[in-house]
Amino acid sequence: MSTSQPHTPKMTARNVHVHYGTTHAIDDVDLDLHSDEVTALIGPSGCGKSTFLRCLNRMNDSVAGCRVTGKITLDGVDVYEPKIDVVQLRARVGMVFQKPNPFPKSIYDNVAYGPRIHGLADSRTDLDEIVATSLDKAGLWDEVKDRLEQPGTALSGGQQQRLCIARAIAVNPEVILMDEPCSALDPIATARVEALIEELKGRYAIAIVTHSMQQAARISQKTAFFHLGVLVEHGDTTQIFTSPQDDRTRDYITGRFG
Ligand SMILES: Nc1ncnc2c1ncn2[C@@H]1O[C@H](COP(=O)(O)OP(=O)(O)OP(=O)(O)O)[C@@H](O)[C@H]1O
Ligand SMILES: [Mg+2]
Repeated sequence: MSTSQPHTPKMTARNVHVHYGTTHAIDDVDLDLHSDEVTALIGPSGCGKSTFLRCLNRMNDSVAGCRVTGKITLDGVDVYEPKIDVVQLRARVGMVFQKPNPFPKSIYDNVAYGPRIHGLADSRTDLDEIVATSLDKAGLWDEVKDRLEQPGTALSGGQQQRLCIARAIAVNPEVILMDEPCSALDPIATARVEALIEELKGRYAIAIVTHSMQQAARISQKTAFFHLGVLVEHGDTTQIFTSPQDDRTRDYITGRFG
């Protein structure tokens, strides 16, 4: 008998270790990411948050000296298996970086880039539709619909970040990884991106690295606290922030270190 398993994780990490040469950056991490849920990754600078995030869509593959061991799965399939097409994987597990990094192309072409290389549109009309829908989901359509041919780099920082989110969404990802997406934004742009994350969480599994405890508390359902490469504690965000089980977590969230 087949049963539906609503709580099957979208992605799992088991016994994940990452070394850069002799630096042991991630030490035996187990973590699940679920669809319809935002997981915040928090912890002091250098604790391995970005490193861990990059393992999930194999962005570490191209980092010289970086060695990843353990098992990471997407829908139960090991993403490090040789048969995995990394370009395809990164379409399914998209990434948004700390510094908005639009391509030196038009707003339109930034969003159309992924759908073009993945052959997602049969016609220019299809492509127009994907671009418009993605910009709309990213909360940017109204601001750019009359200037799609202008360079993406000419937008404000907050608009560029939403453009990068639109670019990630355009290829129908299942997971979105965000590495401090608001750290370069003012409070208004941050609020817009947070509202967007809130909206997107119904469709994707989202993992977001943040140094803002307030942001983690506002937007995430699960929180994972990293310290010196170790995942010290993870669980429901409310529990982590109101009754952390580990002294290191308590010290960090109350601002005693980090
Ligand atoms: N490309 C690299 N080569 C060598 N060591 C690296 C590399 N990237 C990260 N590291 C090391 O791995 C450890 C974890 O770094 P990482 O960037 O993952 O931390 P982080 O938690 O994201 O920090 P921050 O909050 O400052 O962004 C650090 O000791 C760092 O020096
Ligand atoms: Mg980082």
